[in-house]
Amino acid sequence: MTSGETPADCDTILVTGATGNTGSRLVPRLAALGHPVRAAGRRAPELPGAQGVAFDWYDPATHDAALRGAARLYLVPPTAAPDPAAVMLPFLERARSAGVRRVALLSSSAIPAGGPGVGQVHAALPDLFDAWAVLRPSWFMQNFTDRHPHAESIRTSGVLLTATGAGRVGFIDADDIAAVAAHALTDEPPLRGADLVLTGPQSLSYDDIAATLTALGGRPVRHRSLTYDQLHDRLAADMPAGFATLLAGLDRAIADGAEDRVTDTVERITGRPPRSFHEFAAARWGT
Ligand SMILES: NC(=O)c1ccc[n+]([C@@H]2O[C@H](COP(=O)([O-])OP(=O)(O)OC[C@H]3O[C@@H](n4cnc5c(N)ncnc54)[C@H](OP(=O)(O)O)[C@@H]3O)[C@@H](O)[C@H]2O)c1
Repeated sequence: MTSGETPADCDTILVTGATGNTGSRLVPRLAALGHPVRAAGRRAPELPGAQGVAFDWYDPATHDAALRGAARLYLVPPTAAPDPAAVMLPFLERARSAGVRRVALLSSSAIPAGGPGVGQVHAALPDLFDAWAVLRPSWFMQNFTDRHPHAESIRTSGVLLTATGAGRVGFIDADDIAAVAAHALTDEPPLRGADLVLTGPQSLSYDDIAATLTALGGRPVRHRSLTYDQLHDRLAADMPAGFATLLAGLDRAIADGAEDRVTDTVERITGRPPRSFHEFAAARWGT
């Protein structure tokens, strides 16, 4: 502890991505549990119950202030970064030196430890921290309601475009991910090396999603299946080719059955079952 800090400052939980799908839902949960919370984003987010701090993964000059007094971290990788480990690992070394003792990392069900991208950060955690958990959620239900391209496409044309075919996904509510993150950061004794694949209660195809959105959203939505090449070319018109290849490849893996699973992890960690897509859509559209 340095002069000017209170004991509580030294147990601060730093939440990166605090304006995002999971971080914005985690901050109020931690604050309600009585923890000092620092909410990090590129423009110092102002969130009830938290102190905002300006933090940019690509600007190391912002890192020390974000870490001051922090003992625990929620880590949302930089958006669409091909190699997040390049910026995250130096930050995590710094975090350990600054006194951070526990971390929860947001990864993806599609990326195992040692896999590409954030999988490299996952693989490095055992050498950095004693208490760590990696949250590996399936696809978010919020992809159909918020700022995601699927939500945009539903709003503008009533069409969901994927190369997933009849493949199924264990869609999960970001609120359930945040609930698991809150446990991972506050439960005693802490999780020491947890690889948590998180899903909702059912595995659903995009045809199923379109049917539920049609029934509850008040307007027809249909799923149009594209081939891998068709999807890749569409995506590559708006983003770097490498990222388009990654995203189209994820759809192809879904078509091949890679995400057709459900786990009991949310219920095991939080003590209650995850929300179904039907419940999520009914709550969103108030039907
Ligand atoms: N969407 C899915 O279906 C899904 C499924 C599995 C895993 N995931 C993973 O979940 C993670 C989050 O994805 P999401 O779509 O839900 O995004 P999100 O968390 O809603 O938004 C990204 C967050 O990161 C922050 N951010 C972006 N660039 C930053 C930078 N340079 N420095 C510091 N903060 C930065 C943003 O804050 P500011 O803009 O305020 O700075 C925002 O809070 C991704 O790693 C994704 O791979 C997503």
